[in-house]
Amino acid sequence: MTSSTTHAHKAPKATLVIFGINGDLSHRLLMPSLINMTADGLIGDDLTILGIGRAEDDDESLRRGFETFKGEAGGEGALDMQAPRIRDAWQSLRSRLFYLRGNFGDADLYQRLHARFDQTGNGSAVFYLATAPHFFGDIVERLATAELLDESSGFRRIAIEKPFGHDLTSARELNARILTLAHENQLYRIDHFLGKETVQNIMVARFANTMMEAVWNRNYIDHVQITAAETVGVGTRGAFYNATGALRDMVPNHLFQILAMIAMEPPNSFDAEAIRNEKAKVFRAVRGPTDETVAADAVRGVYTAGKVGGKEVGGYRATPDVAPDSRTETYAALKLAVDSWRWAGVPFYLRTGKALAQRDTEVVVHFKPVPFAQFQGTGVILPPANKLVIQLQPNAGIAMDLVVKRPGPAIETAPVRMDFCYGDTFDIAHATGYETLIYDMLIGDQTLFQRADGVEAAWAALQPVIDAWQAAGEPQPYAAGSDGPQAADELIERDGRQWHRIGP
Ligand code: BG6
Repeated sequence: MTSSTTHAHKAPKATLVIFGINGDLSHRLLMPSLINMTADGLIGDDLTILGIGRAEDDDESLRRGFETFKGEAGGEGALDMQAPRIRDAWQSLRSRLFYLRGNFGDADLYQRLHARFDQTGNGSAVFYLATAPHFFGDIVERLATAELLDESSGFRRIAIEKPFGHDLTSARELNARILTLAHENQLYRIDHFLGKETVQNIMVARFANTMMEAVWNRNYIDHVQITAAETVGVGTRGAFYNATGALRDMVPNHLFQILAMIAMEPPNSFDAEAIRNEKAKVFRAVRGPTDETVAADAVRGVYTAGKVGGKEVGGYRATPDVAPDSRTETYAALKLAVDSWRWAGVPFYLRTGKALAQRDTEVVVHFKPVPFAQFQGTGVILPPANKLVIQLQPNAGIAMDLVVKRPGPAIETAPVRMDFCYGDTFDIAHATGYETLIYDMLIGDQTLFQRADGVEAAWAALQPVIDAWQAAGEPQPYAAGSDGPQAADELIERDGRQWHRIGP
């Protein structure tokens, strides 16, 4: 087994200030990641964690609250607090975790924060906004007013969680506001998909393998499918989700990040700006559905009651905090184009949904079929075209569908699969995906974070769909536990193609 952190040095001395320390993200992902990072030697005794929240806590009660983690190792399981590696790391981290109580909108909180930095003499800090999105702009403004973004005694960085805006206008406004208070190189806009090893691997798999890059264009690729299917329903997130919907929640961020990795040109280095420049070019080249094509090229669905994995699931509209006449979609499918020399004429089909039959995040690159000529007279029906399946989660890996000769005297073909399974070779199971992101914030590497222009270009590509869906119409129902609405099948079948089967 190969470890994923073999070459990394320990992060520098700093304070990680987490706004929203009592929230779900801190419990489920941030603190488990910090424990994993401690266990892997990525952070040491000189990292202090200061949690900010509104609850009546103190240092000790906060620490006790974290004693029973709901961590998501590999996104699926819980952190094993009994494992010696984890137990030791937590013991080391525990004494460096502190609590500061306060209201995010209260000027006094920022003065107390300032005073703490003066006392410790530790200048460098990352302010992590793990809060509801409506706090983002205000917190940055208050940090700036209290001179907490001044970098004269060390770096001062801000990590901003998703969603960054809820449409093009709000994303522009938020960018404009925070960019008057902080420099772009202080801003770490998070898309947690970029923390996933398998998403990062797309770029390496493309640019470290000559044979991939040689066929990676419109001459050989027929179309690309990107899927993020989830079995979970909306559950307790009704209030957030109903104002958001599947399109905003998953597409301009997570699916577009994957799209950019697939479609970008080779950067001239693995430097953050070089990579983010190439990704921004892809976002600007994306041509999404327009007012004229939205009816045909964008489909929305909503789950009704059904069974997922043998368990009864109520319909979306019966979810707490969701109105029975809600028009919010829990499924979205789209056909997009990328207007570049490399991709002209190659459609990208994207789909995502909740309460589907299987959990499956994958990219399927469908190659063009071979010319049939040489098989004429052999009895062979046109052999299936090659497919490259990049499975991101679960069971991460890369598989190639090829065609070989079936043994025997006649020319007969048989489809076969060549498989690489990530977990067979590398130890990635214990990671939450946030370890790399937190580490990169601390060392100042912005490669895996979104830049202002990229965020805005992604919203711009989808704004016509957002507007059209807002203005009229309803999502098409699909039963929980199915593969999504029928209209999504029709979207791709109109082009004479089919979705790759959902499921590993
Ligand atoms: C989040 C969305 O950003 O990503 C959720 O808000 C979604 O609705 C989640 O479930 C999916 O992430 P992952 O890592 O579980 O695939």
